[in-house]
Amino acid sequence: MHLHFINFKKIMKILEFYVKIKKNFTRVIGVVITPLIDKFENLINKTENKKMYEIARNIQKLSLIGQLSAALVHEIRNPLTSIKGFLQLIESGIIEKNYFDIIHSEFQRIELILSELLVVTRPQVTVFHKQSIQSIIHHVIALMQPQATLHNIELISNLANEPLWIECDENQLKQVFLNLIKNSIEAMPNGGQIRIDVTKASSFTKIRIIDQGCGIPKDIMDKIGQPFFTTKKNGTGLGIMISRKIIEIHKGIMNIQSEEKKGTTITIQLPLYTLNIS
Ligand SMILES: Nc1ncnc2c1ncn2[C@@H]1O[C@H](COP(=O)(O)OP(=O)(O)OP(=O)(O)O)[C@@H](O)[C@H]1O
Ligand SMILES: [Mg+2]
Repeated sequence: MHLHFINFKKIMKILEFYVKIKKNFTRVIGVVITPLIDKFENLINKTENKKMYEIARNIQKLSLIGQLSAALVHEIRNPLTSIKGFLQLIESGIIEKNYFDIIHSEFQRIELILSELLVVTRPQVTVFHKQSIQSIIHHVIALMQPQATLHNIELISNLANEPLWIECDENQLKQVFLNLIKNSIEAMPNGGQIRIDVTKASSFTKIRIIDQGCGIPKDIMDKIGQPFFTTKKNGTGLGIMISRKIIEIHKGIMNIQSEEKKGTTITIQLPLYTLNIS
């Protein structure tokens, strides 16, 4: 790969951490590289060179992996420690069948975390196509219908009649709406309604997912979307973070409004397709 045409220092912030070992001797103990977002976006906006665009995207992904790795180590170390402990018990002759069940479920948790993370870190080329937002939402609703019915939940969609075209990676956007509707279903153990509205607002489309679930307590609102933050027994706490990243990649914004015991409304705005988009 030829990278010589990018001046990294112009688009990246490089922080090096040193420890002083002797008077004139220091050692680097870590380097953190993060993209300077505004310059980075500029680079993406200006570029007509597909190759350069892909390299820029990869840099963004690498930075995300960097942010995630510390939290990931923490999340995976816990089930691994537990597995190690049980293996030691088995080794010492205290074998009980239900230890195997625990080991099995800890492995499942690691697998789940890793497979969710693959969504953001897998070396995949984001393929942007012109697509109507209604057809994406339509598809997602059809996919979620059985799960909603099972939980006594009605999915009500209210989609603008005229097709609203956006430039998107369809599979990534489907992933976002699946994550959000899944969250709404999980927040409504006693059933109810989830409304999905799609409207046009000047140069963008507004998608709202409105549920009647348990809502998000004010004191944890800041933590929602932080990697691995979850209030669920089997949640990975990656759904919102991944969704937000995908919406950012599509130059959109995502907003969460919630009231405890009343419900949650997620609003997403995505720019409508224009012929000028490179
Ligand atoms: N619609 C919602 N209603 C109430 N709480 C929500 C809603 N959406 C998200 N949350 C809260 O935000 C937390 C983080 O959500 P996120 O989707 O990132 O992870 P998760 O749902 O816990 O795990 P995963 O998505 O991997 O199953 C949830 O644990 C929940 O507390
Ligand atoms: Mg979730």
